[in-house]
Amino acid sequence: MTILSIETSCDETSVAIIEGQRDKVYLRSNIIATSLTEHAKTGGIIPEVASRAQLRYILPVLTNALKKVYPNYKLNLAPPPIDAIAVTYGPGLIGPLLIGVETAKTLSFVWSKPLFPVNHMLGHIYANFINHEDSSYVPEFPLLALVVSGGHTDLLYLKKHGSYEVLGGTRDDAAGEAFDKIGRLLGLSYPAGPIIEKLAKKGNPKRFNFPRPLLKEPNFEFSFSGLKTAVLREVKTHKTLDDQTVNDIAAATQAAISDVLVKKTLCAAAKLSVKSILLSGGVSANQMLRETFQSEIDKQKLSSKLFFPPKFLCTDNAAMIGSAAYFIQNPKNWQQIEAEPELYY
Ligand code: KG4
Ligand code: ZN
Repeated sequence: MTILSIETSCDETSVAIIEGQRDKVYLRSNIIATSLTEHAKTGGIIPEVASRAQLRYILPVLTNALKKVYPNYKLNLAPPPIDAIAVTYGPGLIGPLLIGVETAKTLSFVWSKPLFPVNHMLGHIYANFINHEDSSYVPEFPLLALVVSGGHTDLLYLKKHGSYEVLGGTRDDAAGEAFDKIGRLLGLSYPAGPIIEKLAKKGNPKRFNFPRPLLKEPNFEFSFSGLKTAVLREVKTHKTLDDQTVNDIAAATQAAISDVLVKKTLCAAAKLSVKSILLSGGVSANQMLRETFQSEIDKQKLSSKLFFPPKFLCTDNAAMIGSAAYFIQNPKNWQQIEAEPELYY
């Protein structure tokens, strides 16, 4: 089954073509345009700016994704050789979401193709099911999925494709949001996660002992706003922030966030005896987080196998949306689909 998928929930405009064959999804094209540089100037995303960028990018990105797989096809009323269309319908910013959803509905109507609405957060998880060079890299159920992005920190238990239970989420800031807000306190540009990761390599994580909220509580909830407050308090004690202090704060921040994510997730993994642990979302691109997960799994002698997507599939992309659509198989009539910015699970 060949699926053309569309992702426009925030500041990336992406169209992919994936091919599902039995338990494998193969990536044929995955074009991504981003308005990130426009948001870096303002230190965060302005919805109006993101919506206008989506409008500018959607048709060129769609055309490029099609051209890569079908070089002789020209966008018109006759469909390309695909079987279905998939689109992110939430959660996200209403303006950006509408561009993708309305494009997908139009294509579904004009080309008479089934349409799969996909929850963006499940999409992140399904980036782990896109075919890997290593053929043994196939997650097995039951599994635990940690979604760590700019807006979410969620822990889900999946018994099989499309069947899941949310074990917990964040009470306040998401992990990515904590990286971004702390980055702003340190004078870094947006998004700060990858910059903090780079600076942390030159820093001493032990110089500051930032809080690890809810670590000892018997639940699977997260909270990162206290960490941000602790960093703010520390920053205020310095007249000016020298480079080494910024590096040390970056390293201590990354250590505190990783510590909470790893310990809480592995506690759930042990309790539920899952076969696989899947990391996903922008923050799962963090190398130190990945390494801490693996070393702690080894230390605790857990039998669960760790999975994370290649870095280019951790942040927003349409390939993961196509993958979720293929495995969940929940088509809807285009008239029934609306953008849902507040969609949960
Ligand atoms: O999944 P994503 O692309 O967008 C949302 O759906 O939110 O995640 C973006 C988030 C940002 O907060 C960014 O700072 C964070 O992921 N991020 C990272 C890294 N790369 C991206 N955080 C820590 N380390 C990274 N390497
Ligand atoms: Zn995302």
